[in-house]
Amino acid sequence: MSVPSLVVAAALFMIVSQCNGQLTNTFYSTSCPNVSIVVRNILEQAQQNDVRIGAKLVRLHFHDCFVDGCDGSILLDNADGIQSEKDAGPNNNSADGFDVVDDIKTALENVCPGVVSCADILALASQISVTMGGGPSWEVPLGRRDSRTANQVGANSDLPGPFESLGNVTSKFRNKGLDSTDLVALSGAHTFGRAKCSSFSPRLYNFGDTGNPDPNMDSAYRDTLRQTCPQGGNADTLANLDPSSPNGFDNDYFTNLQNNRGLLQTDQELFSTSGADTVAIVNRFGNSQSEFFDAFVQSMIKMGNISPLTGNSGEIRADCKRVN
Ligand code: HEM
Ligand SMILES: *[C@@H]1O[C@H](CO)[C@@H](O)[C@H](O)[C@H]1NC(C)=O
Ligand SMILES: *[C@@H]1O[C@H](CO)[C@@H](O)[C@H](O)[C@H]1NC(C)=O
Ligand SMILES: *[C@@H]1O[C@H](CO)[C@@H](O)[C@H](O)[C@H]1NC(C)=O
Repeated sequence: MSVPSLVVAAALFMIVSQCNGQLTNTFYSTSCPNVSIVVRNILEQAQQNDVRIGAKLVRLHFHDCFVDGCDGSILLDNADGIQSEKDAGPNNNSADGFDVVDDIKTALENVCPGVVSCADILALASQISVTMGGGPSWEVPLGRRDSRTANQVGANSDLPGPFESLGNVTSKFRNKGLDSTDLVALSGAHTFGRAKCSSFSPRLYNFGDTGNPDPNMDSAYRDTLRQTCPQGGNADTLANLDPSSPNGFDNDYFTNLQNNRGLLQTDQELFSTSGADTVAIVNRFGNSQSEFFDAFVQSMIKMGNISPLTGNSGEIRADCKRVN
């Protein structure tokens, strides 16, 4: 092939690959080649003020993708015709990191205006956060576009809550095309970050209205958590999701579950529900960090592929908080 026809073929390939609804690792390689560097620089700065920022951003990506797909909808503020997902139960006073998303967006608009979507910022920031925490690195499929709508009702119905049964959580994941291996691997994101006392304290005192604590919690761990979250105390006090390595991304989450030291009911259920297919998966990841890391990467890519807007759908928001 001559050089000009190679160029034409490459251009055609790019046009086709951007219009057929597929995300690609090279999406910004000509339009914003430094996108990863820019995101990483902002995250490194942000982490100096907030060790938890990576965890916050990974959770935002999850809560984005589970509601009408990975389309940046969680980032929209209330406005005419927009009922913000930020006010939905699972997000209200809990989802965080929005200011850093805005900092990333501002930095990207300076180097490649109008090019990088807010939905892709969440996907890229998640990978970089996991890597910075000591977890795996991977090539992030990109090319998502941003929604012009939010879905608060969907955020309330589709996001799992910490007191749900394993069966319910499993079906919420299955509804998004994610299987038990994805559920267990992605739950491993609870290897870093924090939860409020209100997200788990019934387990310490009155589990499922039994008047007793959760029998599937190690008693020494429970005693420690009771000091953090006394009965009638501040429901917003924070505890580490992974008590053994709170800020590192590793497989301790799974060894904790094997020792009845999962913080949320939904965490411990993965290991303590007898007969569940998740038990063997927890054991596999608890016994091998590299198996966890490989599975986590695969499942993050799968989650990141939930119904993205591509081609001419949606828009590239100039400000992640509002539609253009
Ligand atoms: C399996 C179902 C899940 C449930 C029920 C659940 C629930 C929760 C809850 C209740 C919190 C604490 C919120 C608070 O107290 O303010 C939390 C935190 C967190 N979740 Fe999940 N989660 C689930 C799956 C996931 C997945 C799939 C990811 C990402 C892949 C994820 C990432 C995180 C992170 C990183 C934090 C800490 C955030 C921070 O420090 O601000 N979670 N989750
Ligand atoms: C990317 O970053 C490098 C080094 O930081 C810089 O020299 C280059 O001009 C940047 N390229 C673009 C397209 O912004
Ligand atoms: C969100 O939380 C605030 C403060 O706790 C509360 O006043 C408000 O009613 C909550 N919003 C919704 C939509 O539940
Ligand atoms: C599980 O889902 C069913 C059906 O949607 C619901 O009625 C039930 O309350 C859920 N259970 C829990 C523990 O959330």
